[in-house]
Amino acid sequence: MTTTFIPSNWEAFQSINRQRRAIRKFSALSIPERDIQELLVEAALAPSSGNLQPYQLHWIRSPQLKAEVAAACNHQQAAATAAEIIVISASAAIAKHTASRQLAYAELSDVLSAKSKAYYRKQMKMFNTVLGIGASAFWTPFMYAATLLRPCLSLLPIGNIGSQNWAARNAIFSAHTIMLAAAAKGVDSCPMEGFSAVKIAQLLQLPRGSVIPIVIALGYRAEDARIEMQWRRQFNETLITH
Ligand SMILES: Cc1cc2nc3c(=O)[nH]c(=O)nc-3n(C[C@H](O)[C@H](O)[C@H](O)COP(=O)(O)O)c2cc1C
Repeated sequence: MTTTFIPSNWEAFQSINRQRRAIRKFSALSIPERDIQELLVEAALAPSSGNLQPYQLHWIRSPQLKAEVAAACNHQQAAATAAEIIVISASAAIAKHTASRQLAYAELSDVLSAKSKAYYRKQMKMFNTVLGIGASAFWTPFMYAATLLRPCLSLLPIGNIGSQNWAARNAIFSAHTIMLAAAAKGVDSCPMEGFSAVKIAQLLQLPRGSVIPIVIALGYRAEDARIEMQWRRQFNETLITH
């Protein structure tokens, strides 16, 4: 039996993961356009439930809009000094759109087996129901009542709030990929949830039902950026071994 040699990338990963810090002040240096494009392409490879990719990455390129979005980030310094700003939007409607694309891909594929195609049909039918009628606000009071009895049910993608939470949760994987990909390129980032969702949704003209899980500021750390030691609680408080 032959074994394939897979080179270990551990040291590279660890160094990238530790290079990524939340940076709140960026220098005036601009980021090559190609670098931004490349890291956004990587972000689109992030995993998502049912591969439904219920998010969109908004690269704010217009200087005027960028200034307005930065102001909507509560005038945070990270946003005001960022070379680039990426806003991530998410919704059940985006997921529904992906489901129809994914089904069309499966139906037209000449590499997928009949069994695989049947699997896609079944999956997409189920997701269409959950994200269609299941995402209706009609269910929200029932879900609310159910979560009072069983709080762990609150992450179910049922009702308008449940489906928005589900979409936002899925979007976060691409957000983290952006920040790790940026770190791999020597570009710094700051994830921000301190912003006015209403203002940014208006500025980007997001369709009703969209949420904004996170805004990411990108740039190169300023020489006088305040970067403290990376603190985490004791690891045994994070890791529970069963
Ligand atoms: C969901 C989320 C929202 C955050 N929002 C902000 C923010 O609005 N402003 C900010 O300066 N940092 C924000 N941060 C950065 C955190 O404060 C930072 O990640 C944390 O202190 C740990 O520091 P480190 O990322 O350098 O390890 C946010 C991080 C996450 C994950």
